Amino acid sequence: MKVAGKHYHTIWMEGSSVFMIDQNALPFSFEIYCAKSFRETCNAILTMITRGAGAIGAAAGFAMAQVFIEGARGEGKGAKSENYTKEQIDFFDLARKEIESTRPTARNLFYATERVFNAGLISVENALREAQLLADENIADAKQIGENGSNLIKNGSRILTHCNAGWLGFVDYGSALAPLYIAKEAGKDFFVYADETRPRNQGARLTAWELQNEGIPHKIVPDNAGAYLMSKGMIDSVIVGADRIAANGDTANKIGTFEKAIVAKEFGIPFYVAAPYSTIDFSISDGSKIQIEERSEEEVLSYSGPDSDGVIRTIRMASPGSHALNPAFDVTPARFITGFITEKGIIKPNELTFSH
Ligand code: MRU
Repeated sequence: MKVAGKHYHTIWMEGSSVFMIDQNALPFSFEIYCAKSFRETCNAILTMITRGAGAIGAAAGFAMAQVFIEGARGEGKGAKSENYTKEQIDFFDLARKEIESTRPTARNLFYATERVFNAGLISVENALREAQLLADENIADAKQIGENGSNLIKNGSRILTHCNAGWLGFVDYGSALAPLYIAKEAGKDFFVYADETRPRNQGARLTAWELQNEGIPHKIVPDNAGAYLMSKGMIDSVIVGADRIAANGDTANKIGTFEKAIVAKEFGIPFYVAAPYSTIDFSISDGSKIQIEERSEEEVLSYSGPDSDGVIRTIRMASPGSHALNPAFDVTPARFITGFITEKGIIKPNELTFSH
């Protein structure tokens, strides 16, 4: 994705540091955050400086590589497993658990830590190579999702999306928005409705910013407008991303997704989930086994944004003294999902298998 004419990835690693676009600063300012240690990368995932299933996966892979660099310090990058002491192995194990506890719903996080952990047991160099390979695969899968899904976008299509499953949610391209970017490149003319996505407003802040950058006509709509828009015949399809997909196709995605899927079914509107195979957790049979992250109540009770001088302020917007509940995701049962737009093609929920 280009920002002011320069091509950027959402996240990348140089030396032992991880660089990422600060998504908390967007869309009001464009800043790059540098995490110099694995703990700083963990904190960046936790505080959502980087976010979105694919970007979290890449960040977790890089964080795991930082763990091996930090743990093998003194022995250099070439440290081999036969040189690791018990203390070092214990450190790698504990650090892996620390990374995995940051955003527990995101399947890609665990997919990445497992791969880089196993690679790092061979050598530090190997961990770094594997983390980079994961980031490269992330881009390739997202681009292919875009190619495969772009056929669903016709001239005149009106698409509803929820949260941000765009370029910022991956290393590049995105999942739900990738088909739109490829369709736009092909010269198609279509319109996007972006749910604001309370409480953190990923739709209003990030999806809208991405669509604007790409010159795609769009409007931000309140989270509770979906049923109205669909009942008025204003939506032709819904495309969302996924944070974890169970083997039967039940899908965890940003809170509010499930409601959109129910309404889409009521009005006979196709509801697609765009995600790479790395988001599918074949170890769980159905969505009831997906751990749903609960975030701070402050995200619901307050609101942040720049004042007229451009200074970011946080204001309370709820009745003083009231508490809030803040589940970050919900699970849409597979029966509401028309198809999964994956790098391997568009697949029906009951056709998800390892062998694809
Ligand atoms: O809490 P977030 O912003 O990390 O939420 C994840 C998401 O962006 C969505 O649920 C998305 O659709 C997943 S795919 C990028």
